[in-house]
Parts: sequence; C-alpha cells; structure tokens
Amino acid sequence: MSIKKPIGVFDSGFGGLTVLKEIVKQLPNYDYLYLGDNARAPYGSRSFETVYEYTLECVKQLFAMDCELVILACNTASAKALRNIQQHDLPKIAPEKRVLGVIRPTTEVVGKLSKTGHVGVLGTTGTITSNSYPIEIEKFYPTITVHQEACPMWVPIVENNEIESEAADLFIQKNLSNLLAKDKNIDTIILGCTHYPLLIRKIKKHLPSNIILVSQGEIVAEGLADYLKRHPEMEERCSKGKSIEFYTTDSPENFDKAASMFYGKEVRSKHLEL
Ligand code: DGL
Repeated sequence: MSIKKPIGVFDSGFGGLTVLKEIVKQLPNYDYLYLGDNARAPYGSRSFETVYEYTLECVKQLFAMDCELVILACNTASAKALRNIQQHDLPKIAPEKRVLGVIRPTTEVVGKLSKTGHVGVLGTTGTITSNSYPIEIEKFYPTITVHQEACPMWVPIVENNEIESEAADLFIQKNLSNLLAKDKNIDTIILGCTHYPLLIRKIKKHLPSNIILVSQGEIVAEGLADYLKRHPEMEERCSKGKSIEFYTTDSPENFDKAASMFYGKEVRSKHLEL
C-alpha cells in the first residue's frame, strides 16, 4: 500500500487558502494538507524571531505528517522565515525535503508586466519592513524601481468581514494614495498578502484603471507546476490521490465558518495541537 505524501500548504491562518484554491485548480491530482496557525495569527505584526520560530514549528509538523514539499503560502512567513529555514534548518532536519515561498514566484513575473519599470508593493508591516520584495525584484530586474506601503488594517478588515464597509474604503484609499504619492509612475502593484485578493474589487475602485494588480494565487500555482516539472525527483515523491485535508491550530468550528470566504467552498477542518 502506498503511503500518502501530501504537498503541505502553510499559512498563519486563512489567507493561504486563496493560494491553495489556485494550486488545486492547476494541479488537481496531488494530495494536499493545509495547515493554518490560527491560534497564533496574525503574523503580520510579529517580530522576525517570532515568525521564524512559529513557521519552523509548523514546517516540522508538516514534515512529521509526511509532507515532502511544503509551500509557505504566507508572505509574512516567506519574508521572515523561508531563507533561514532553507539555509540553516533544512540541511539539519530534513535535507531531502523542500520548502518554497510565495515571494520569489511573484517577483519573477512582475518585470514582464510593468511597462514603466515602476512597481508598488502592498503587504503586512512584517513583509514590508523585511524588504524582501525590493531585494528579490532587484535580483531579477535590477532596473525596476520599487516602492512599498504597509497596510496593517487590511487583514483585520477581511478577517472581521468588513470588506464592504466604509471603513474598508477609508483605509484602502489611504494606503493606495500613500503608495502612489511615493511614485506617480507606478503601473503595477503587487498584492503581497494572501488576504488582499478578497479586497480586489475595492482596491480597483480606488485605483486608476491602467494600473495592473498582481494577485498571487495563480502565479504561485504556475510556479509550483514549473518547479515540479523541473524537479522530477520531488514530483515522484508527492502522492497523487486528489485528497485535501485541512488543519487549524485553533477551533475547527471557527475555521470552517470563515474558511469558505477564502477558499470559495465549504471546508471541514481538524484541530492540530502543536
Ligand atoms: N497571510 C499573511 C500574509 O500573507 C497575512 C496574515 C497575517 O498577518 O497573519 O502576509
């Protein structure tokens, strides 16, 4: 009997479900295991050390649950923990396993989209202060100018289902005008947080129509498909049973209630004690 070896998809809470949804659409044959660390979310305002410690703990848990490949479907975790995990922890704890993030695949495509060469990034305070996006974009497209804006209120707006409220308009408009005031030539904006696709209608309302919005789900899914093609040794190790299991470190009842807003359909999760 073959052992199930699901692809692990990790997020601080719900946001990674917007990424998982696109991954499953593009790569429906694999088994998946989603873990949301809802008990300790949000990560966006936490220190580097804390995000690293929490993310590493969850990655180890996913490894213990037979995941050979883990996607950090969270910008904050990708920004603050991925590099350390890849360089320092993996060689010691599981040299044959892999952990991938969401920032690199996003930055790889952004230079092809921008005509002016001026790009904006929106994200949590943690993602923005880490400077991960400007650093990664520079590696691929050294001539591109990047400006950033932290949007600390956007995740709470989504999580509290205030998406259609006037308060949402207020904060979205404020952050977007701050970003555009930094550079009026920006023609491409990265939604560098997994929650932001839920705000896309409102974001578009407050932006000139010529500005391209880069949402990550599809890009990360394409990046994963490409990675599996380029790494057949890993592809063979991921089992293909079309199953999707959801785990949360908090209450499954609460998780299931909010998850469908992010995933687009009903979710039944189980509690996981770390
Ligand atoms: N999922 C996180 C991200 O993409 C945001 C949520 C949080 O702050 O925990 O950055």
